[in-house]
Amino acid sequence: MKTWEELFDFSGSVAILTGGAMGIGEAIARRLAAQGASVVVADIDESKGDMVVRELAELGKGKPLFVRTDVRDVSQAERLVKTAVQECGHLDILINNAGIYPIAPAMSVTPELWNRVLEVNLRGPFFLAQAAARKMKGQGSGGSIVNIASIDALHPTGRLAAYDASKGGLRMLTRSLALELSPLNIRVNAIAPGSIATPGAAAASAGASPAETTRMLESFTSRTPLRRVGEPDDIACAALFLASRAASYITGVTLVVDGGYLLS
Ligand SMILES: NC(=O)c1ccc[n+]([C@@H]2O[C@H](COP(=O)([O-])OP(=O)(O)OC[C@H]3O[C@@H](n4cnc5c(N)ncnc54)[C@H](O)[C@@H]3O)[C@@H](O)[C@H]2O)c1
Repeated sequence: MKTWEELFDFSGSVAILTGGAMGIGEAIARRLAAQGASVVVADIDESKGDMVVRELAELGKGKPLFVRTDVRDVSQAERLVKTAVQECGHLDILINNAGIYPIAPAMSVTPELWNRVLEVNLRGPFFLAQAAARKMKGQGSGGSIVNIASIDALHPTGRLAAYDASKGGLRMLTRSLALELSPLNIRVNAIAPGSIATPGAAAASAGASPAETTRMLESFTSRTPLRRVGEPDDIACAALFLASRAASYITGVTLVVDGGYLLS
């Protein structure tokens, strides 16, 4: 029987992580690297991505790498997988975390906004999972894919129609890929975070007055049984569990990490 330390030891593992330059992705990068993984951070924000990778390198574990990647572009996704394997030798884990959540009432959603949200949040994760799974299949040693969805995949919060559709689709895509890829021992799971304090979440409420922001936060925390907003590390811990050997018999699930928000 493996010890807990062994189950959560990622030494020798190579993980591609999208949107790793800040927020939830940055927290996942830190946790993975601390457990010994070589983390390939893929993001459109080169300066923040480089900074995160420099900090990971200071841990002296694995081989952290930044690859500028726009997940909307399938050829960039393919190049990302190729670069990760060239530089780190193989690929074991993909974490599809990059996502956008522009707030817009359904009546004002334009075709451009709809396409942008669906391309980043759903089309990108699918083609990256496809490229990663092709590589994992060739290696013959299985793998793990974790998609960062949202509680909005299960419950609409309002003024996020395109986002809710993308995350609902990502949840079903997770199940679909889990079924198809299980013969290759590639596990595919999702996480549905509740409200998490990140730069993206702060920017989403940037148009609101300080009073409105306070009211939104109070209304959220009062509806959350654990009475707090989530931290990026709350999601990072769940992502590491699903990617780890401790979850080797888990595939196709969406793990809700929301402080109990959906209970009420
Ligand atoms: N923060 C929350 O409350 C919350 C709740 C539920 C789900 N989520 C999901 O968690 C994930 C991360 O959210 P966050 O709050 O940390 O966001 P964030 O905006 O703080 O960070 C997102 C990162 O993704 C990158 N990114 C954006 N578009 C990209 C693209 N086309 N290609 C590559 N990288 C791109 C950004 O540069 C940034 O580094 C998203 O999928 C989001 O939908 C967040």
